[in-house]
Amino acid sequence: MKAVILVGGEGTRLRPISLMMPKPVVPILNVPLMFYILEWLKKHGVDEAIMVACYLPEKLKKVLKNSYKGMKITYIYEDTPLGTGGAIKRAQQYMKGTTVVINGDIITDFNITRMFKFHKEKKSRATVGLYPVGNYSAFGVVDKNADGSIKRFLEKPSREEIGTAKANINAGVYLLEPEVLNIMDKGLRYSVERDVFPKLVGTGFFGFDQEDIYWLDLGTPERLRKFSTDILEKNYPLILTKKEKYSKEKGAKVLKSSLVGKGTKLGKNSLVGMLNVIGNNCEIGENTVLENCILFDNVKVGKGCVLKNSIICSASEIMDNVQISKTTVLGPGSIIAQYSKAGD
Ligand code: GTP
Repeated sequence: MKAVILVGGEGTRLRPISLMMPKPVVPILNVPLMFYILEWLKKHGVDEAIMVACYLPEKLKKVLKNSYKGMKITYIYEDTPLGTGGAIKRAQQYMKGTTVVINGDIITDFNITRMFKFHKEKKSRATVGLYPVGNYSAFGVVDKNADGSIKRFLEKPSREEIGTAKANINAGVYLLEPEVLNIMDKGLRYSVERDVFPKLVGTGFFGFDQEDIYWLDLGTPERLRKFSTDILEKNYPLILTKKEKYSKEKGAKVLKSSLVGKGTKLGKNSLVGMLNVIGNNCEIGENTVLENCILFDNVKVGKGCVLKNSIICSASEIMDNVQISKTTVLGPGSIIAQYSKAGD
């Protein structure tokens, strides 16, 4: 089965992290985020992933290349963003049979195999994966009839409108039959959720919900950190990172819940405390303490720093005696002067 993966978004909510890299290649425990998605798809029999790309496509291809563990990766490019609807239409030539379509920024273990069975049993033209959540008012909510067919879509509804503690949100996982593409316009910018799905209601359009699964939309730095922490705390079943060789000077310590990348140097008496991910080829100075931080590759941190709850993008330099105790995201190539302070 083929999967069409929408990866054309600029990831504005993820800035500054997404300023110089598209979301799918953002490192999670030093591995591109897309690899976690491809592992999941592979488990459900996907043998070709079609990336519909627009934002920084050359960086995407450079990292993901043309295959992943035997799964073929094909790229389609848009000159200007076509929205989720126009982007799916662009992949039409690859969608000859039932095709999985996903948003390229969701991490989940949604059971596509079971969804596929349901899709076939119902002779569905399009099936939307649904995930029941309590905090639904920030999402697109989908109402179903008793037979699983879709009744209506509600964008960011209030609690009064829904009236229940939990509601099914659109999980960003779809199964589409090729015929659905025929009602979609070519070359225009539109949203599949807002402009196409409402038109399909009542025409063999179903929702398939799954509870007790992992589901996270990696749209913001906070959720990126949550995913990273979930892997470190073993609340997400897949670890793709292998133990790498790094160097430690006398007295340097790394707590078990942290990960240090290849070629990184830890200075004398430095402490990589709880829940950190340190990238490859970083340098951590003498007596520096890190807690709950994510450092991408090639980050240099000086001596005597205390950094907590920070995400520091690649090639940044933090000079000596800097203290950051507040949630902070530093963009690529940041330079922070010595004795700078943020937080308490
Ligand atoms: P924000 O700018 O922070 O909202 O992020 P985003 O650009 O990723 O948008 P959003 O989270 O709504 O997108 C959901 C998924 O659809 C992401 O995987 C995007 O890459 C993808 N996507 C959104 N718009 C487009 C588009 O115009 N073309 C393509 N190919 N994919 C898109």
